[in-house]
Amino acid sequence: MRHWTGAGLVASAIGIALLAGAPGGGAQDQTGAIKERQALMKKQAEDLKVIQSYVTGETSRETAIAKANELLTLPPRIAGLFPPGTSNVEFPKATHAKPEIWQQWDRFKQVPIALGRAEQQLAEAVKSGRKQNVLDELDNVGRTGCGACHTYFRAPLKD
Ligand code: HEC
Repeated sequence: MRHWTGAGLVASAIGIALLAGAPGGGAQDQTGAIKERQALMKKQAEDLKVIQSYVTGETSRETAIAKANELLTLPPRIAGLFPPGTSNVEFPKATHAKPEIWQQWDRFKQVPIALGRAEQQLAEAVKSGRKQNVLDELDNVGRTGCGACHTYFRAPLKD
């Protein structure tokens, strides 16, 4: 018994070691990161849409607050989902990420920080219930966050 348990432990330890030792930056990791960042981007767009529908009266403030809080958790994850070697040069069909992202990495990684700040203001506006402020902050998020990055770093989606 003891022998088998030991062998099982060794086998599972090897299994874990193999998983943990998978070379970073492998093709699978890269397509995984591409899919994950696209899903995160879509989630951002969905959350903003719900907040917009609060302004037009179709969604409760509670729901809009929940979405604003959810949005705040996303920008800190963005840069980590852009590992090197995942531009539309390496993966022409799978991604719209331009090589400029890695050529201007310092600039790229500042944009999620600006986005996070704008979303903080958006969350405060939603909590205040002042809809004109919510509209202004939505505009600010779109310009200084989403738009600022897409203009330089995302290839046109129709490609
Ligand atoms: C730091 C840069 C950056 C910021 C900030 C950013 N995006 Fe993006 N976004 C990208 C890039 C690059 C892509 C292309 C990703 C890909 O295809 O791998 C993208 C793709 C998308 C897509 C298409 C996803 C798909 O399914 O292919 C949507 C929708 C989107 N972004 C919405 C948003 C919204 C909404 C915001 C603001 C709340 C935002 N993005 C903020 C860089 C950014």
